[in-house]
Amino acid sequence: MNNSIIHIRTYGNRDEGKLSFFEENKDIPFEIKRIYYIYGVKAGEKRGMHAHKKLQQVIWCPYGEVEIITDDGEQKTNYILNSPDKALLILKGHWRDIYWKKENSVLCVAASDYYDETDYIRDYDEYLYYIKKGC
Ligand code: TYD
Repeated sequence: MNNSIIHIRTYGNRDEGKLSFFEENKDIPFEIKRIYYIYGVKAGEKRGMHAHKKLQQVIWCPYGEVEIITDDGEQKTNYILNSPDKALLILKGHWRDIYWKKENSVLCVAASDYYDETDYIRDYDEYLYYIKKGC
């Protein structure tokens, strides 16, 4: 399985408004242990710059626009999140850089586990070493 764009199930229309939702183990391939969101970021800012050893995440941008560049140590892939019905599944072991394209964009994350700093790899050279070891 690869990282992939997920279409979030959505009901409604332009007049009455819309409702989007996803369910663990049905629309996304893991149980959700944690939700967090990032906001109040200036356009042009960059965040992320890490990989996770085990954590899986679904990331979506209900307001604004962000660009996410994932990296598996060999290939980089760009994704634009700019719609409340669009999400990105990032599997374990992928480096990610996140660029804020629009002021005050909101980035939401559903994660497969609780916060654990030991699951992070924050140094890119260390990440390449980790990936090449085949961990
Ligand atoms: P981090 O994941 O590094 O954010 P970003 O990738 O957007 O730069 O998180 C920033 C800090 O927030 C981190 O050092 C610790 C804290 N934090 C928590 O305490 N719990 C959490 O669930 C998250 C995601 C972060």
